[in-house]
Amino acid sequence: MSEVKFFYGGNVPLEMHKVRIVQKLNLVPIERRLEAINEAGNNTFLLKNSDIYLDMLTDSGVNAMSDKQLAAMMEADDSYAGSTTFTKLENKIKEIFGMDYFLPAHQGRACENIISQAYVKPGDIIPMNYHFTTTKAHITLNGGTVEEIIIDEGLNPTSTYPFKGNMDVEKLRGLIAKHGADKIAFVRIETGTNLIGGQPHSLENLREVRKVCDEHGILLVFDASLLADNLYFIKTREEQCKNMSIREIARAIADLTDIIYFSARKLGCARGGGICTRNKDIYMKLRELITLYEGFLTYGGMSVREIEAITVGLEETMDENMINQGPQFIAYMCEKLKESGVPVITPPGGLGCHINAMEFVDHIPQSQYPAGALASALYIVSGVRGMERGTISEQRDENGNEHFANMELLRLAMPRRVFTLSQVEYAIDRIKWLYENRKLIGGITFVEEPKVLRFFFGKLAPVSDWQSKLVAKFRADFGDSL
Ligand code: F0G
Repeated sequence: MSEVKFFYGGNVPLEMHKVRIVQKLNLVPIERRLEAINEAGNNTFLLKNSDIYLDMLTDSGVNAMSDKQLAAMMEADDSYAGSTTFTKLENKIKEIFGMDYFLPAHQGRACENIISQAYVKPGDIIPMNYHFTTTKAHITLNGGTVEEIIIDEGLNPTSTYPFKGNMDVEKLRGLIAKHGADKIAFVRIETGTNLIGGQPHSLENLREVRKVCDEHGILLVFDASLLADNLYFIKTREEQCKNMSIREIARAIADLTDIIYFSARKLGCARGGGICTRNKDIYMKLRELITLYEGFLTYGGMSVREIEAITVGLEETMDENMINQGPQFIAYMCEKLKESGVPVITPPGGLGCHINAMEFVDHIPQSQYPAGALASALYIVSGVRGMERGTISEQRDENGNEHFANMELLRLAMPRRVFTLSQVEYAIDRIKWLYENRKLIGGITFVEEPKVLRFFFGKLAPVSDWQSKLVAKFRADFGDSL
């Protein structure tokens, strides 16, 4: 991809695949978009796909699958117990991660439920580079407390530091000294750190974390949902790993962990999940919970067709040309926005392009949810659906007080191999226009607020008539354009 030079210069990401199945999209007029976002309570999770042009909500379960994945799905072995399809996945996990035991689960958060139930007791501390929403919810539900010990640079929105997802190893030592190793249920590293802009950790950092875990006999749990991007970044940004293959890097990571779990809605571009370990005791401890919550040990809530697709998807993840499209499209989008002064998280990470709402709409107080307001505004002016990753995605504390997020991000996910570069250009164009007109954007406030994971189905309303003013300006500038 990046090795191809263009005669007229420029750094254009060139795809190493072709598209053979397409899905028709709609771009409804802005007046309908204004109606649709208010029907959805200004929550992009509640929009209907028929009202969406580019769905950049997530990369979960919506990545394009390969011809080989689809072919494998046709020969899946559908048996309740002892399915050949499951054995293929088990063998692929052994081959890539060198882990003998694999427990299937229906998706990533199901793995988090099982691991938290098995290891988290009330009063326990779980240090991690950064939390993910569902991870934190499961840990809290079991009485544990999440301690985020990302390096300081991780929370710096604009940086050139290549591994902003690294854990601060001194802070880890500090937590162990303060609470005692027996209070630490496990240390969790999230690869491709989701909520801070898809930022990677280095292999070296993982080695250091492992060393501390070994000194104190603490389990190291690795959330590999965003592993594909992180592998690419280690290969391209970590000097000592330049000559390692993607497969060697994946194995080096696995060798440093006790438990790997993943959402196969992300890793492997299919739908499902699972927990891997080389330790029989861990396997035995988790096994019963799998049969209780997920299903029998050879399907774990997944369809066998998806299991076939995961096996092929994991193999394809070892191919740099299959995993570089996401990070390269994201980098393209971030660079173009940055050139126009739009505040984006840098360096570009995986998962998607992240806009820093705290700066984009710096006139909106955090209590009026800048990232949520920006998500609503961008949908209105473009039909592009992003996701709020800020205060709305946090939980209130036990006294009902708002917990302001460290970062207010609008995440524009880049489902892998799904969009063309002209579609990305369209999104860039509308974001630039919105940035020019940013003072028109106002805040939003809750009208319906669920207690748990409120970002999924909470409803909000604009605090003023700012949305109709935005529509009027769009019409004035773009005439009758969609
Ligand atoms: N861990 C990470 C790092 C994730 O990004 C996700 C999901 C999960 C765990 C949970 O997996 O969805 O299969 O249950 N992230 C999705 C997203 C939802 O949109 O970022 P799941």
